[in-house]
Amino acid sequence: MTEAAPKKQPFLSDVATLRERARKHLGDGAITPAYVGDVKKTIDILQSVLATEIVCVLRYTMHAIAATGISSDSVKAEFAEHAREEQEHMKAVAERINQLGGKPDFNPDGLTTRSASYYAEGENLVDMIRENLIAERIAVEHYRELIRYFGDNDTTTRVMLEGILGVEEEHANDMHDLLVAHQGKPMLAG
Ligand SMILES: [Fe+2]
Ligand SMILES: [Fe+2]
Repeated sequence: MTEAAPKKQPFLSDVATLRERARKHLGDGAITPAYVGDVKKTIDILQSVLATEIVCVLRYTMHAIAATGISSDSVKAEFAEHAREEQEHMKAVAERINQLGGKPDFNPDGLTTRSASYYAEGENLVDMIRENLIAERIAVEHYRELIRYFGDNDTTTRVMLEGILGVEEEHANDMHDLLVAHQGKPMLAG
């Protein structure tokens, strides 16, 4: 897509940028085996996970309210359930930042810059479902990477992320099923 019509730019075109942003903290070097020296880096990573979850709460909440069209009620209910689960993730991550001695960053300024997720409203029901599916796939990919990154150096953070990952995988499946139901075919290649 060109930059000629940024408002119409499909969400998909930003995926590479989002992935790059999600990985930004991982490129700084390997975590030290002793871990304890790198709490600050863990907090930085978790701040971006927190922002990602906040954006997911906002996006699903908006979609749950704004979705319209034939058989939108069941889709709205699904969006609302996801919004609640994203909120649980948001709180768990904020608690972990707090435990590590950090201050969870809920500042709306710069939220989307910190996030590996994307706030997209969607023009219609299928657009909304598609945007959520893409956002979930990015989250799944990013969290898998973080789980490998933390490994045995911070098992508490890793276990928390594993729990979140399981739910994000369910979310991605749910969105995929909805997309097939409402569009009649799976649309995403890769
Ligand atoms: Fe989440
Ligand atoms: Fe999710």
